[in-house]
Amino acid sequence: MGTLSVVDVVDSQGLWEGLLQGPLGSMTALEQALFRLRFDLYLPDVLRPLKQLYGARADFGAQLEKLLGIVARAYAGRSEELRLLDLRRTSEPDWFQQPNMLGYVCYVDRFAETLAGVIAKIPYLKELGVTYLHLMPLLKPRPGPNDGGYAVMDYREVNPAFGAMSDLRALATALRREGMSLCVDLVCNHTAKEHEWACKAVAGDPVYQNYYYLFPDRIMPDQYEMTLPEVFPDFAPGNFTYCTDCQRWVWTTFNEYQWDLNYTNPAVLAEMLDIILYLANQGVEILRLDAVAFMWKRLKTDCQNQPEAHAILQAFRALTRIAAPGLLFKAEAIVSPDQLLPYLGSGAATNRECEIAYHNAFMVLLWSSLAERRVTLMTHALQNMPDTPANSAWLTYLRCHDDIGWAIRDEDAAAIGLSGFLHRAFLSDFYSGRFPETFARGGTFQYNPKTGDRRISGTLASLAGLEAAAEQQGWQEIDLAVRRILLLHAMILAFNGIPIIYMGDELGLLNDKSYLNDPNLADDNRWMHRPRMDWNKAEQRHDWQTVTARIFQGLQAMIEARKQTISLHAAGRCYPVWTHNEQVFGMIRASARGRLLVLANFTERTQKVPRHRLHDMGFKGGLLNRLDGKNLDSWSEVQLDPYQALWLEPIPV
Ligand code: GLC
Repeated sequence: MGTLSVVDVVDSQGLWEGLLQGPLGSMTALEQALFRLRFDLYLPDVLRPLKQLYGARADFGAQLEKLLGIVARAYAGRSEELRLLDLRRTSEPDWFQQPNMLGYVCYVDRFAETLAGVIAKIPYLKELGVTYLHLMPLLKPRPGPNDGGYAVMDYREVNPAFGAMSDLRALATALRREGMSLCVDLVCNHTAKEHEWACKAVAGDPVYQNYYYLFPDRIMPDQYEMTLPEVFPDFAPGNFTYCTDCQRWVWTTFNEYQWDLNYTNPAVLAEMLDIILYLANQGVEILRLDAVAFMWKRLKTDCQNQPEAHAILQAFRALTRIAAPGLLFKAEAIVSPDQLLPYLGSGAATNRECEIAYHNAFMVLLWSSLAERRVTLMTHALQNMPDTPANSAWLTYLRCHDDIGWAIRDEDAAAIGLSGFLHRAFLSDFYSGRFPETFARGGTFQYNPKTGDRRISGTLASLAGLEAAAEQQGWQEIDLAVRRILLLHAMILAFNGIPIIYMGDELGLLNDKSYLNDPNLADDNRWMHRPRMDWNKAEQRHDWQTVTARIFQGLQAMIEARKQTISLHAAGRCYPVWTHNEQVFGMIRASARGRLLVLANFTERTQKVPRHRLHDMGFKGGLLNRLDGKNLDSWSEVQLDPYQALWLEPIPV
């Protein structure tokens, strides 16, 4: 007969009774019953990944009990407002897939100085249509260089320059009342070397030494290095750092002050779970889980995307669903297209990992198409990506605080007759401004002579040509740059996911060179695309004579159109189609909610798509362009202006 399920080998009734006598003891019968419901529902999902990670340990039962104790305590401490939110979210599980979702991402200080300042800017965000606000790292960082806040020394305190934890709670509540969800970063792969755990490890405490990867000599580090890539070859070469205070080599994937956590130790998973739930109870609704691909190490591999890294995420997912089911996870895994999809859950873990993941490949392909003025690579590569699970959403974006790395697979390039290596080199030349006649003004980030990789920094507007056009003061060039900016946004707004606007892109902010004057920032040119918000420029958004207004209002109109277009729900399929014109990208969104044909001209010339091609795709009758509300008038061919996008919906007969 069937094999024993994992639940059978665990005394779930015993576990439950322990919780009833402990953290759940003082709760009402209804509150206990609600917890029990989720406990029963999610326990198998808790056990599957935990067994994979720690099943061989003699103390597995005790570890499980400890984790469930953390979950029950967090549930008991969750406010009424947040418990109601949980019910609301579980009653409308596709809330984050609705076309009204629009994200915005910014640094607290660069946007509004403090958390209280962000509250004051809520009307601005509402004007744009934002429903999801991602604030860049805001927990207490180490002093001095801190990788933009990604070196946290205390996860339970806010960066004192931004305010206190009570300010974060107040902000989360204020946003929620205005229909916006707060997303914050959780740096779960590493801590700052100044974190209390690291300090105890340095002081010689063996309990905390086991929280990190410490090695007495170079024997193991050298073996690992044979297959490890370098994330920051320029300013942080190698993956290990010698700590003179503790006389050990420490695993430091990123900078020397960011110490990788050791998840083979279940105590680390328990600590991080406690932090996740602590943040959820402050009112955070979405956690951006940073650098998740790196969370498990294995000799003779690149130590990324290991099955156990997925198991850690699945364990976090199931455990937090018991206490705070309203909380969503967004995976930050900037990995190759084939490695990306499993972060949304696959196989037995479908819908049991992260709900949202950055669509790094789409972002890269958009920039590639723009430089090449050809959409063949994007069409082919996206056609070859498997479908996403029904209850997930991509995070679609054009720029973020990081550089752009050309994650284009050699196989995809070869399939359309390109050399992957040469194409990536072309893109680096193009966007760093070295390619003759390029419109882009970017910077090279982390040139790696071993691989030839050259990543790119720069703001959206500068990469799309606005900086060069402004220098030349050519109105035609400025017009084309604005069109490129709007075209790219029309693409991320039409894909199956949550589109995110990167702060300042809605105003066309250009590269900011002022970071060069700050010794803590000067060696990291990613700061060129992390400008301070220009509130004077923001004032121009209502003055129709300005470029700023053209961008802001153009974007605002597209966002509004998206909100009205139900076929853009993220559960709808999304498949690229050949338009018989290499310069025009085609994509169909299809579901029971309706069909939509997206066409996008990636060149500065007028383009045409024969109407019979639309017939072949099943778009036969009259068509309405949702982007301008007008019916398509030509019956012989569809004409697209330079860099124009169309969202075509069949007109019901
Ligand atoms: C993520 C962040 C990046 C940071 C790294 C280390 O990739 O986006 O900015 O440097 O993690 O935390």
